[in-house]
Amino acid sequence: MENEKLDVIAREAEEEISKAENSEQLNEIRNKYLSKKSFLMSLMSTLGSMVADQRKEFGAKINAVKQRITERLDEKMKEFQKKELELKLKKESIDISLPAREFNVGAKNPFHVVKDEIVDIFLGMGYEVADGPEVELDHYNFELLNLPKDHPARDMQDTFYITENLLLRTHTSPVQARTMEKKAGKPVKIICPGKTYRRDDDDATHSHQFAQIEGLLIDKDINIGHLKATLELFAKKMFGEKREIRLRPSYFPFTEPSVEVDITCASCGGKGCPVCKGTGYIEILGGGMVHPNVLKMNGYDPEVYSGFAFGIGIERVAMLRYGIDDIRKFYTDDIRFLHQFIKKA
Ligand code: PHE
Repeated sequence: MENEKLDVIAREAEEEISKAENSEQLNEIRNKYLSKKSFLMSLMSTLGSMVADQRKEFGAKINAVKQRITERLDEKMKEFQKKELELKLKKESIDISLPAREFNVGAKNPFHVVKDEIVDIFLGMGYEVADGPEVELDHYNFELLNLPKDHPARDMQDTFYITENLLLRTHTSPVQARTMEKKAGKPVKIICPGKTYRRDDDDATHSHQFAQIEGLLIDKDINIGHLKATLELFAKKMFGEKREIRLRPSYFPFTEPSVEVDITCASCGGKGCPVCKGTGYIEILGGGMVHPNVLKMNGYDPEVYSGFAFGIGIERVAMLRYGIDDIRKFYTDDIRFLHQFIKKA
């Protein structure tokens, strides 16, 4: 009779354990079946009134049931603890798949990218970088470049005057005169990047302020072949090996002969297309052989020395290089424009 009761207890306990949903419920079950006040334990107190054989047998049975329930509880407890730990770890783990917070990274203005590249190309050819003031004397900006006061070519560069003799330089060419003055009759090989100013209507291709890179080389036996080879190398390095250049006759008061330099159009490769207006070429710079008057005025004997000079529009090169359609974009610092030039790693 008591044995049967024990079997019922064992079964009930096992059933409850299997249905338990968490460790708290298991603890309740443990309390219910194994605490001192539990029914199972109360059966222990009946042992005293039993005869020896019966006591031994029943005592052993109670212990067996107690052990069975304990084992089941422990097993189940371990399961729960494992699950609960996993859950806890899952909750506490850091989700590294979250996108990182973005930092606002700036970008080098394409103007500076191109300017630095041009400078690098000429440094590679042995040129030095020279500098000069943006507020310039008429003397250097015009006079020493063979543009006396009444010269009609001054009109093309009608400019911002500060006083009658002081102005915002209209080109980087005054640095030619300043450098020749400093070198005092010795060979010259310089480039000069810098800002220039002209009274221009601001539109997609003109700005009252823009930048040039001046180049000047003076030595003995310099001829126009040297100029062409130098600019050809520049064009290929800047725009690609396939580019050809062509020199067209032009006029500047400070060079003779003077040339405009064109490169073959990147869009059509020289066949002619809307980009190059059907000509196959795009103009990139002006240059020529230094005028004997300029050499003379700046302390060089034109019978001994000769040289070439050129002026490259930096924005123009950058516009061609990147297909930028409006010169004003270089100056507005619009982050959406600049971000297009961030080099992706
Ligand atoms: N200074 C000229 C200009 O601004 C460019 C140039 C430079 C031409 C040097 C010849 C030699 O248009």
